Parts: sequence; C-alpha cells; structure tokens
Amino acid sequence: MLMDPAPIEKRFESMGKVLDAARKNLGRDLTIVEKILYSHMDPATDFSKLERGKSDIFLDADRVAMQDATAQMAILQFMSAKIPEVAVPTTVHCDHLIQAHTGSAEDLKAAEDTNREVYDFLRSAAMKYGMGFWKPGSGIIHQVVYENYTCPGTLMIGTDSHTPNAGGMGMIAIGVGGADAVDVMTGQRFMTRMPKFVGIKLTGKLSGWTASKDIILKVATMLTAKGGTNKIIEYFGEGARSLSATSKGTVTNMGAELGATTSIFAYDDNMDVYMRKTERDAVADLCKKYRELLVSDPDVEKNPEKYYDEVYEINLSELEPHIVGPHTPDLGRTVSQMKADAEKNDYPRDLSAALIGSCTNSSYEDLTRSVSLARQAKKAGLKVKSNFLVTPGSERIFQTITRDGIMKDFEDVGATVLANACGPCIGQWKRDDIQKGDKNSIISSYNRNFAKRNDGNAETLSFISSPEIVVAMAFGGSLNFNPMTDTLKTPDGKDFKFEPPQGEVYPEQGYASKDSGYLAPTNSGEVIIDPKSERLAFLEPFPKHDPVADYKDLKVLFKAAGKCTTDHISQAGPWLKFRGHLDNISNNLFLGAENAYYEETGKGHNVVTGKVDELNKIAREYKDKGIGWIAVADENIGEGSSREHAAMEPRHMGCRAIVAKSYARIFEANLKKQGVLPFTFDNKDDYNKIQQKDSIAIEGLDKLQPYQPVTMVLTHEDGSTDKIKVNHSMNEGEIQWFYAGSALNYVGSQKTA
Ligand code: F3S
Repeated sequence: MLMDPAPIEKRFESMGKVLDAARKNLGRDLTIVEKILYSHMDPATDFSKLERGKSDIFLDADRVAMQDATAQMAILQFMSAKIPEVAVPTTVHCDHLIQAHTGSAEDLKAAEDTNREVYDFLRSAAMKYGMGFWKPGSGIIHQVVYENYTCPGTLMIGTDSHTPNAGGMGMIAIGVGGADAVDVMTGQRFMTRMPKFVGIKLTGKLSGWTASKDIILKVATMLTAKGGTNKIIEYFGEGARSLSATSKGTVTNMGAELGATTSIFAYDDNMDVYMRKTERDAVADLCKKYRELLVSDPDVEKNPEKYYDEVYEINLSELEPHIVGPHTPDLGRTVSQMKADAEKNDYPRDLSAALIGSCTNSSYEDLTRSVSLARQAKKAGLKVKSNFLVTPGSERIFQTITRDGIMKDFEDVGATVLANACGPCIGQWKRDDIQKGDKNSIISSYNRNFAKRNDGNAETLSFISSPEIVVAMAFGGSLNFNPMTDTLKTPDGKDFKFEPPQGEVYPEQGYASKDSGYLAPTNSGEVIIDPKSERLAFLEPFPKHDPVADYKDLKVLFKAAGKCTTDHISQAGPWLKFRGHLDNISNNLFLGAENAYYEETGKGHNVVTGKVDELNKIAREYKDKGIGWIAVADENIGEGSSREHAAMEPRHMGCRAIVAKSYARIFEANLKKQGVLPFTFDNKDDYNKIQQKDSIAIEGLDKLQPYQPVTMVLTHEDGSTDKIKVNHSMNEGEIQWFYAGSALNYVGSQKTA
C-alpha cells in the first residue's frame, strides 16, 4: 500500500476534540464539510467569526498531488527554499504532456522522446525530495489518486482544477496554483476563502440509461458555470449513499465546471468497499473506526436549510440522461431533446468523434456499462460510424479491462485505444481527420468543453454526456440519434435497438495489479537539468532588497488601462512550454497588457533611452542596468488563472512594487510570496497622478507595519512632486517575507536557522 495510515490515524485521533469545541462554539451540529475544514485549521480559530464567502482561512493539507505541467515550477520553487524533503506526502503524475495521435504505444514513445528533459527533471527531483513519482503512461492524476491515495476526512490540494474528483471519496480536495502547493510542501498552511455551503439532496436510485454523469450535467445546467464560485457542494441523502464510490468521483470531478471550490460526498459503506478493493484495508479499517467523524451530524439531514446556504433536491429515479454543450458545460438538455436542439441551432449533426474515459469516467463500472452496448452492437454486426477513442484513466484500469476482454470488444467495433493520459481532454490531440477551421461536432464523456479545449479548433463543437450515451451515439454517428428510442439498420437490413446498459461496479477477479508505473522516492541522487535546456532552469532564490536604497528613483514600466488579467501579464498558449524556465517565460511579460501611455498592446516607452519597445524588453533593460521599476494598474489586476508566473515574472525582471486600485485575491497573495509589494491607492483618483516619466520613491519601508499605509513620492518630469498614500494588506509574517526577499527565502532561513 502506498499510503501510510499512521498520519491519518493521528489526524483522526485529534479531530474529535476540535469538533466538540466547534459544536460548542457554534451551538449546533456540523456538516461533513465543516468537520474537515475546522479540523484542518489552527485549533485556536474562533469558528463563529468565519464569514462564508468572505473570510480567508488557512488550512493544513494532508497531501499534495501535482501533474507534470504545473509541477515543474512548483518543484523549482520548492528547491529554492533549500529544504531537504517535502513536509507532507506528495506525488507527481506525468499525464498532461502526452499527445494523442496514432494510439497508445506510439504516442507514449513520442512523448517520452519529446518531453525527456521534463520527465528526467521531475523524476530526479521527486526521488531526491521524497515525492512519489508516477511515470508517463501510469495514468491520469485524478484516477491514480482515487485508486491509491483517497481517504475520507482528509484534505488534499492538487495543482489541477479537477482535483475535486477525490471528493467522491469523502475528502476535501481543492485545485490550487503551484504557489499554494509550494506552501504546503514547505510545511505551511495554504490560504483559501471560507466557502459558502451548497447542499444537494439526492433521493431515489439510478437505473437504466441514467448514470452518475447525468447528476452533474443536471446540476451544471441548474446552477450554471459560475454557480459554484467560492462554494463547496455537498451531496447527501439516500440517493447519494446508493452511488458507487467511483460514480461519486464523476460527480465531484465536474463540480470544477461550476467553479466550485470543491464538491464532496460524506463517508459511506461504498467507500469502505472501494478502499478494500483497491487494497487499502488498513485505511478502510481506520475510517470504519472513526466513522462518526466522517459524516455530517444527525441534525444536518433533518434540517438542511439550517446548515447550507442553498439547498436543492434531485430525484435519481426520475433523472433522464443529459447532453451538454457546445462550448460550455451548462448548456444542457435531455438526450430526447437533443435532436430538436441540434436542428434549431444548426449544429453539425454528424459526429466526427466519440471519446470515452479520461479522469472523469474511467471506472470499471463506466467501462463495463459502455462495453455492454458495444457488445450488443457487435453481435448485430455493427461498427461505429464516428471515430471512437478510449482513454483509460490508469494503467490499473487498462490492465484490468484488457484482462477482462473489454478492450478487445471495444477494438472489435472500431475503437482506438489511447495512452493512459489526458490527451484530447487537454488539447493534446493531433487529428488527421479534420483540418483547423472545419466545423464539426464531437461527443465525449470528459468534463470540459470550452472552444478549442479538445483539438485546438475553434470550429469543433464539443458535447458531453455519460460514457454509455457516447458509445451508443458512436454507432448512431449523429446528434440526431436517440439510443433509447431509435433503431439502426444492421448489415443484413434488420432493425437494431439498444437495450439499456449493464455493468459491474468491481471486477470479479479484482483489479489487475502488475507494474502500475510508480517509483517510490529514494531521498537521494541529484536533480537533472540540462544546462542548455530551454524549458527548464534552476531557480535561484530572489535577492533581498534594501528597503531604503532599493526603493528610490523607481521607473514606471507601464500603467495598465482597464483589465489586466494573469493572461495579460503572462500569456499561455505557446509560452506554456517554458513554464519551468523563468527567464525564458519572462519574455512574455505584459505582452497582452494595454498600456495607458502607449496605444499598442504590450509596448511602451523606455524612459531611459526614449525608445519604443515591448514591455518585457524594457523591463529586461532596466533590470540589466539595476533600475527598479513599478507597474500601475486599475481595478482587479491579476484576475483569471492562479498561475504563479504572473507574480514571479515581474519579480524576476526587477519589479519592486505594483500599485493598483484593487487586486484579484490570489494574484495579490502571490506577489507577497514573491517579494513584490502590492499596494492599493488610498485615493483611487491618484491613479491619474502617476505619469510616465515619474521617478518614484517609496518611504517608510524599513519600518513597515502590518496594514499601515506608506507614502509614495512622485517626482514628475518638470521637477514638481506629489505625495500619495498607498495601503497594503500584509500581516507581520508577510512583512518578514518582504524583508527576506520572498516567502521561500524566509521559510528556508527558518528551517536552516
Ligand atoms: Fe484535466 Fe487530464 Fe482530466 S486534462 S480534466 S486531468 S483528463
């Protein structure tokens, strides 16, 4: 077993006392979400003061999981803190960088060649710093975590937005940026917002064509793609307990499509069975022993309105199969309404591809139910009409379904089996069947369907449904086909109609468990980075600044006009491949930003030379000449993704401070961590006072006090001056980060002191 039960037991032992105190403090019973959150906070917290949707909370995580795209910078940062070993169990999963093209074996080989330097780096760093390493081809992060590391009542963070998949196993699992992962790996708490609570009561039981996927497609349609923001969605009731553990994972996985902090089901017998089937008896025994800690208290189900901010109810017995899309997961309708909708909107009816599997729907239950339909069709002599691609979620699942003949039956009807990796789910799909710009429809059992998400083609309309519906529609080949009612012609001219799917939750012979692609850490060896690499570079700790001398005569690099998101600061797309190389990726700094002093996006004046240039080039020249600079911004700078590069790049290129009307919360936190001062205007109109050729001095930084304003002196080109008051939200600890040069410098100095 890969999971050590000892820390879990310790956690459970201490949980009871904290929860008794929380019940007293709040004067009521607790939901399972509250139980997990409160028991992972500082026990001295006054829980009654926490405002849902508003307060920042600081949580101890039990575990970290990272995928290969986001792990690179997170590990490089961790290394710069010079700590010998990660503070909590951590795993690295190589799943995002494998491109789907011709099929599993060739694609895997191509990925190993193309990404060798990244894999070598991740593996060698994982070995040295005590992280578990899952090789390319071992599976998709969320499926591998589900099979090996899930444990009710615990709290995990993952550097991938579908980390909430693990909520299906009764844990709080939150998708975060790399900077949060580094906090936890270096032994600190990570910050998030105290969520609001949504309770969804499930009654009845699934049957026939309806699958757990339909629950989340229905919820997405009901609550919309923004409906989960800063909320945790909890599923409860008899219907919730009737779902298999893996079905629950599908539901919580796609809570990410609503923007939810996470989603969860409380512990139940089905979770116990799953842990035992996946050979984790010791953890299952612990959960059984501490059962009452891992479920909501009795009054919660009786009076849900008292505990949740919003309550909804879905009757599983009446739920119909759904299809959502295109381009958004909340554009839903029942399968029976699809034909009319396709006609009304003139969606291309022919389905160019049907895809099943991924991290969302790779369970044995999903695949046996799906293959039961493929077998019916095979018996009738039918083959799929659409391209049919199967992405197994893990090597364990792949070996199991190969052994049990499921893979062969899929292949017999025309399926191509892809590597156990993300592939088309994250745009790693090289299609030869259509050209960019060709309008076409596809249907998948994946989770995300934004334009361009699967194949990079904005003209691909991506629909999502359960794997059962997707497989059946691959035979129909059209959005017009309703597998529950329509018939297909067999080669000998007979009418064929599908019977409802049937499957098994668990393999009768158990899961296959040959080499699953895992490497245990050795806590030895050296980290491998080719010094000539363009994709990876060691990260040196950021230099400390003198709080007086280094904050005089600062230049204004630019002033953002209107929106300035993390994409404006650090573009994605072709730059993604430099995520592990801070100096190279910094060449995209502010490329997308609108400068109030210059009409062309991403450009400005070099006030030292008078030349017009790209902002990143100006910043680099200032840096090379030892000139510090600031950037000025309007409202909500840094909204969008949580990528830490948006704060690291300015720091690397010599930015001392940003002064804005307001900040996106995560960006502001990331600036503090990297040692860039995030100021806000005390008087928002002062935004207009800062001129392009100003020389700026920031006073009082040697005596910086928590939450106390400081003065910025603007010396204008004509020699006149303005003094403006700027505020900050740094507490005592964050001020120490600033003095140390960055949070990691500070943490490293404490650990080695
Ligand atoms: Fe993300 Fe990979 Fe799943 S891309 S959605 S983890 S298949």
